Amino acid sequence: MLRVRAPATSANLGSGYDVFGVALSRPADVIRVSRAERTTISVSGVGSQYIPEDPDRNTVGAVAEALDTPAHIEIDKGVRPASGLGSSAASAAGAAVALNELYDRERSKEDLVSIAAEGEAVVSGAAHADNVAPSILGGFTVATPEGITRVDARVPLVACLPEIVVSTRDARRVVPEELTISESVETIGRAATLAIGMCRSDPDLVGQGMRDSVVTPARASLIEGYDAVREAALAAGATGVTVSGAGPAVLAACDEDDRRSIALAMLGAFEDAGVDARVYQTRVGEGVEMY
Ligand code: HSE
Repeated sequence: MLRVRAPATSANLGSGYDVFGVALSRPADVIRVSRAERTTISVSGVGSQYIPEDPDRNTVGAVAEALDTPAHIEIDKGVRPASGLGSSAASAAGAAVALNELYDRERSKEDLVSIAAEGEAVVSGAAHADNVAPSILGGFTVATPEGITRVDARVPLVACLPEIVVSTRDARRVVPEELTISESVETIGRAATLAIGMCRSDPDLVGQGMRDSVVTPARASLIEGYDAVREAALAAGATGVTVSGAGPAVLAACDEDDRRSIALAMLGAFEDAGVDARVYQTRVGEGVEMY
């Protein structure tokens, strides 16, 4: 038996739609794998009732198939499905790393990112590497058709997850299909600022680069209380706030000392809007770890 911890992730970070991602130090899924004649899957933990155990309909079943590594796979979910925190990606990433090790497949981490991204397509309908790449590699990642680039970053974050469900399919439907040249110029500037902020582990630059006037406003309309939560986080010292992935989680960047008050402010604002929520005081973290 082999056991891994696969981290939640936050994709987009405002200005980097379908390109940027970070691994979060918490929450995480725990995945145990053991060799078997054919693949079986059992799922427990948060939101497990919504996750199919049929290998043909589960991300990790597709990963086991692609690696030709039949196994009994136990998934203990710490990352709620449909949260915007890379839930299916965490399971796919963890299974890819664990099964590769269990069967000594010796596939590179870059190969495992592609395999896990294809696995994720089973549930999301399209293969995006912006969650599986940081879940496997850790740190801040940039996913382009040419491949993945990553850097380590030490940036404190707060992720606040409301009890709302937003499907990735719905959240992609509201994204505008075209940008004006001035919107492109603005987005490139912010994305570049964010990337430099990550390289320098500078929460001010990261927060500045999270601003986005294209994708985030369209998606914010799907999250009840978003504007109030954003304002509350900024008032409590957040350097930037955005929708995490496809939502509904809301992500704030900040200095270490402000993390707790930002977490409480975000929870309070959701509560005032009549929405239950939980909050994670987290940071840019490591990729999948065996333990
Ligand atoms: N980049 C993706 C999106 C992440 O925002 O739709 C969710 O798969």
